[in-house]
Amino acid sequence: MSLHLKALTKWDGRMIYEMLQEIDDNDHGFKNEVKGKTYEEYGEWLSKNEQFSRGSGLETWMVPQTIYWMYYDQTPVGYGRIRHWLNDNLKENSGHIGYAIPLSQRGKGYGNEILRLLIHECYDLKINPIQIGVNPSNKPSNKIVKRNGGVLHKVSKTKNIYHITL
Ligand SMILES: CC(C)(COP(=O)(O)OP(=O)(O)OC[C@H]1O[C@@H](n2cnc3c(N)ncnc32)[C@H](O)[C@@H]1OP(=O)(O)O)[C@@H](O)C(=O)NCCC(=O)NCCS
Repeated sequence: MSLHLKALTKWDGRMIYEMLQEIDDNDHGFKNEVKGKTYEEYGEWLSKNEQFSRGSGLETWMVPQTIYWMYYDQTPVGYGRIRHWLNDNLKENSGHIGYAIPLSQRGKGYGNEILRLLIHECYDLKINPIQIGVNPSNKPSNKIVKRNGGVLHKVSKTKNIYHITL
């Protein structure tokens, strides 16, 4: 079945938990809230995020967001998320898509692949153009976005802001 995405559910188990321990809590601006959490806390986090994807349980500053796991066959090899729309704050300095590959799986082309698959999901969510914010010093990620059709839209205080038009 090779590479594919699955949306987060509250039933996700140990393999996802282990993968998430391989991504820093703040990895080049990508926030991983599960790093360092216990397995029980991870379960609560899953339930909360399943709700966020449906637009419920959100605080006023939040927008709906869906988290996806990228699998190679049965093995999780990536973490992606899509914000369904952007508020003014996110428009200024961030974007719709975030992604990370666990340390042991980097340098195998998965970064390019997860963005390609997330762009397909954005098409279904009718997000167009797609905005992505990348730290200027993050060489692989700037490459990945450009390779997937990203065009530099502006440079904010801390990010290169790209647009991908579908
Ligand atoms: C950025 C990240 C997703 C890249 O994942 P990856 O699976 O290693 O990426 P790939 O193997 O697909 O490589 C992507 C490109 O970057 C290049 N690259 C990889 N590591 C690199 C490095 N350390 N320096 C420069 N280029 C690098 C690759 O050669 C490739 O270029 P190519 O398409 O021209 O061959 C991964 O490093 C990561 O999870 N970082 C932390 C989170 C993050 O930065 N997320 C992005 C911000 S939202």
